[in-house]
Amino acid sequence: GFDISKLLSQTGLTTLDNGFGNTAACKSAITYIDGDKGILRYRGYPIEQIAEQGTFLETAHLLIKGELPTSDELSVFQHEVSQHTLLHEDVKRFYQGFPRDAHPMAMLSSVVSALSTFYQDSHNPFDAEQRDLSAIRLIAKLPTIAAYAFKKAQGHPFVYPRNDLGYVENFLRMTFAVPAEDYELNPVVVSALEKLLILHADHEQNCSTSTVRLVGSSQANLFASISAGINALWGPLHGGANAAVLEMLTAIKNDGGDVDAFIRKVKNKEDGVKLMGFGHRVYKSFDPRAQIIKSAAHDVLAQLGKSDELLDIALKLEEHALTDDYFISRKLYPNVDFYTGLIYRAMGFPTSMFTVLFALGRLPGWIAHWQEMITDPGNKIGRPRQIYTGFETRDYVPVSER
Ligand code: ACO
Repeated sequence: GFDISKLLSQTGLTTLDNGFGNTAACKSAITYIDGDKGILRYRGYPIEQIAEQGTFLETAHLLIKGELPTSDELSVFQHEVSQHTLLHEDVKRFYQGFPRDAHPMAMLSSVVSALSTFYQDSHNPFDAEQRDLSAIRLIAKLPTIAAYAFKKAQGHPFVYPRNDLGYVENFLRMTFAVPAEDYELNPVVVSALEKLLILHADHEQNCSTSTVRLVGSSQANLFASISAGINALWGPLHGGANAAVLEMLTAIKNDGGDVDAFIRKVKNKEDGVKLMGFGHRVYKSFDPRAQIIKSAAHDVLAQLGKSDELLDIALKLEEHALTDDYFISRKLYPNVDFYTGLIYRAMGFPTSMFTVLFALGRLPGWIAHWQEMITDPGNKIGRPRQIYTGFETRDYVPVSER
């Protein structure tokens, strides 16, 4: 295609595009989104079909390797992942050093970053074999890292991975089982979490994925790049929105449940209050993930026998917003995060773990993009330009004369 950046650099012109609303930073064959039509496809497969029929590890294989696995390929992939779930015993010392009330996202990114100290063979991103091994290690270990972060906050002993269990089952057991007590996996929780992880698995050039690509473009290793992505995900305008939604719903409930009053606040932009879980840079009609999650929220809460006052508030907020001109004219619809928190809460996760669950889901997408970027012969280090607005030139004045 036509390379406008080359033309601009020849003319000395620079484009300013706040938030990269209209600037593509790469070509990619991984995920397709049509924001006007509410379409999301991984490697050509509609998200609805994958969420309905697929498993998370199949989805990971699809995103990273480009194709759905055959049953033999899936067995090999599952086996490889299950062989790398343990963390080096010394990693536990990191958790001992963290304060008990440390945010699990901070623990997650720190420990992922620290993996590059344990696996120094990962430092050359051009070694294909090592790249594959790093990817497997990360997929295998992130649930263990996440579960340990949960256990750390609880003050409970860590539960080691069990490799005869499925990916989601193993994670749930490491998180919720207490040693010396029986732990029974709930199939409703297992299948709902599997679906949620699939729905989060990739979303092309969002803030965290772009961060992974940008850090990786300097040829930093996979662990360093993904750790940066986790930090980008943490913010409330991105993955942190799932926690922010629950905090918002709880605050509305504690204020007496007056949904109309809250919507008024949002419309008047009082103190910058937003309807969290609404709006998306790309989706301007609906977020297909939110539609699937909304019905899952109903099912999971019903099947777990939990009625949730917060779900009622969420439904009222949505109903109100979808008929209000403020939201209609700005094309603001529920995004993936609007209902996820309610499901996570019903499963027994504290709010602080919500964004960690998002990270577990997004990991295959981050890896796929890092790999696509690093194996692209045309890849260049990411280096945005700026429009300088500071002083022109000034003479240095010694400190004694200032
Ligand atoms: N509540 C109220 N008003 C909103 C909201 C919202 N959630 N989102 C956008 N608006 C308003 C803006 O104030 C702006 O109004 P204006 O034209 O009067 O100034 C208009 O809609 C356009 O919004 P922008 O901020 O320009 O949209 P942008 O594409 O930059 O932001 C974002 C997208 C960050 C998702 C935004 O909608 C938002 O902050 N939503 C709430 C946080 C959230 O749910 N984030 C999760 C996103 S999905 C994900 O990362 C997984």
